[in-house]
Amino acid sequence: MISKATILRGLKTNVVGKKLFVFEEIDSTNACAKTLAETGTPEGTVVVADFQTAGRGRLGRRWISEPGANLLFSLVLRPTLKKESAGILTFFSAVFIARALENVTHRDIECKWPNDILLNGRKCCGILLENSFVQGKVDFSVIGIGINVNQVSFQDDLSDRATSLFKELGHEFNRAKVFQELLRGADTLLPSLEKGETRAIMDDWDSRCRMFGKPVTILHGEERISGTALRLNAEGGLVIDTPTGESTFYAGDVTIAQ
Ligand code: BTN
Repeated sequence: MISKATILRGLKTNVVGKKLFVFEEIDSTNACAKTLAETGTPEGTVVVADFQTAGRGRLGRRWISEPGANLLFSLVLRPTLKKESAGILTFFSAVFIARALENVTHRDIECKWPNDILLNGRKCCGILLENSFVQGKVDFSVIGIGINVNQVSFQDDLSDRATSLFKELGHEFNRAKVFQELLRGADTLLPSLEKGETRAIMDDWDSRCRMFGKPVTILHGEERISGTALRLNAEGGLVIDTPTGESTFYAGDVTIAQ
């Protein structure tokens, strides 16, 4: 269990983690952060837990994580953004996480559309954004982040796609130090989000993404679409060149054809 005192020691952030809730066990840090956000918790509030009994993943999936091995946390933001610009939050999150993981692993960190983080081609982190809108603007955003830090083994069906920092680097990581790096990373990038420096954030994300110009397959509900990944549109949708013309996707699972 990481203690609150250890996380706060030397953290020195301006906004992120100023309000911090630490749990040994919780249903979902996102569920908790959402309740806090609905009752007015300030921007930068963070909820972290050692174990989740009902961890939420993307597309209604579950997020299962070994107790005490990883980082499971949610960050509440209240950015000044119109609803149609909320897509930038995905890329903002991926970029601050990638930078922080690069600082602790000294390895290249890849971003995979829409919101996975890869190390050596395997997923080491998933992001789940839950946004709330009022009158066409973002009221709050809960950024849920699950990072596989020291987990050694994964379910059979995940073992070729999922990994942890431990598995890739061959040694354990101090979770409190990794967590501090992430909180500092979010705190440092936050002003760029507020100043509307969307292009800089997207350029960083683009430079970490390997799918553009490559043949990809996207699974979107029951649909499976193949084509060439062209670009992201202004809302963060993935534009694919298919045999029947260009199609844009806002959700789904994408794989690069080998
Ligand atoms: C994905 O499906 O890749 C996104 C997974 C996000 C998991 C994290 S763990 C902390 C936070 N709380 C949750 O219930 N989910 C997110």
